Amino acid sequence: MGGIWLKACSTKPSVARPDINSLLKFRQIANIMRLSPAVQTLKPSATLAAAAKAKALKTQGVNVYDFTLGEPDFNTPEHIQQAAIAAMKAGHTHYTPSGGLPELKKAICKAYVRDYGIEYKPEQVVVSNGAKHAIHNVLTALCGPGDEVIIPSPYWVSYSALVELTGATPVIVPTTEASGFVLQPEQFAAAITPKTRLLMLNNPCNPTGSTYPVEILSAIGQIAIERDILVMSDEIYEKLIYGDAQFRCFATLDPRLVERTIIVSGVSKAYAMTGWRIGWTLAPVALSKAIDNLQSQETSNPCSISQYAAIAGLEGPQEGIETMRLEFAKRREYVLQRLRDLPQVTFAEPGGAFYAFFNVAAYFNRPLPGGKTVKDASEFCTALLEEAHVALVTGDAFEAPGYVRLSFATSMENLKAGFDRIQKFLLG
Ligand SMILES: Cc1ncc(COP(=O)(O)O)c(C=O)c1O
Repeated sequence: MGGIWLKACSTKPSVARPDINSLLKFRQIANIMRLSPAVQTLKPSATLAAAAKAKALKTQGVNVYDFTLGEPDFNTPEHIQQAAIAAMKAGHTHYTPSGGLPELKKAICKAYVRDYGIEYKPEQVVVSNGAKHAIHNVLTALCGPGDEVIIPSPYWVSYSALVELTGATPVIVPTTEASGFVLQPEQFAAAITPKTRLLMLNNPCNPTGSTYPVEILSAIGQIAIERDILVMSDEIYEKLIYGDAQFRCFATLDPRLVERTIIVSGVSKAYAMTGWRIGWTLAPVALSKAIDNLQSQETSNPCSISQYAAIAGLEGPQEGIETMRLEFAKRREYVLQRLRDLPQVTFAEPGGAFYAFFNVAAYFNRPLPGGKTVKDASEFCTALLEEAHVALVTGDAFEAPGYVRLSFATSMENLKAGFDRIQKFLLG
């Protein structure tokens, strides 16, 4: 803003010189619009930006194969929709308790007993406007300037941005394709300093699809216990597991971890409910109370109707999850086969979520069949979108140079056609 002001002052008068009052007004507006330091450096979500670019092309009538999406391409199951309609008709359209309806908290607790055999009390649950909001709550409640938060990379785009919003410092620990993009316990131990507040784990992981073997999770848990570090375990993709991979809820690994773990999850991915915006945290009571207070001041409560829908999701038939998982599993197999057919493209097989994360660096700095040369994954994605009309997300968005992310949360038909184009783009 200051720059604009200086520019306005130094511009040579031509015909009409601006009068002093309009200049003062301009400066006043520039001043009142000055952004806070936290927001000035905040980057927009790279995945949403990539999706917006693809959408813009589509609205121009271009046939784009969009693999940027981070949400199931299935509709919310019918019985959940009906529960929302019934809630509205029954007049459940008012404010609810800030941390969520008692019935929903109970349903969440019951689901964790059913699915993982772990008992939480309703006062340990806070329901938020999606898992992203739940993560923001956790970080805001726990972190501030001078604190460090350990984040294994590649990581979901919002992690570091949300840490930085609190004034804390993200400490990025790179994982490798060779290790299946799994944080090694010794890497975790080495990253801990007296300032460490929290480890942010994401299992299964966006963008890599990696899942943590139980022995590695346990070893990470033991370090957290010994060194007294809190762990935020983002388990939003917990129901989408493939092949030999197994999911283990982090807090179930050791009774001593319950006091040190904040589970983050929600209905977005498991029940195809991304638009309903319901997520939650399971945490020690004192922290849950603090998060509830924070939320009561920030957003009051999550949408009342969505909360009733979430109860129906958690308590109703669970078969829909398996139907969706099986479909994702088929697509995953197909995607892996197509990736194996691309020479010099490398990847670690995803055990969960709905992403393939692969390295395309072998195609940089040499002419592609269309004539273009790209130097990094961002340029690669731009060229792929412009030439082949296929949208992927650059690994640069996840601190993983050389990689790109493809979401297989789209039809098999789209995957087939999209891969044909990717193949042509790379091999001619
Ligand atoms: C790793 C991870 N955590 C959290 C979220 C946020 O989920 P929600 O839509 O419930 O806010 C996402 C969404 O893409 C995600 O990928």
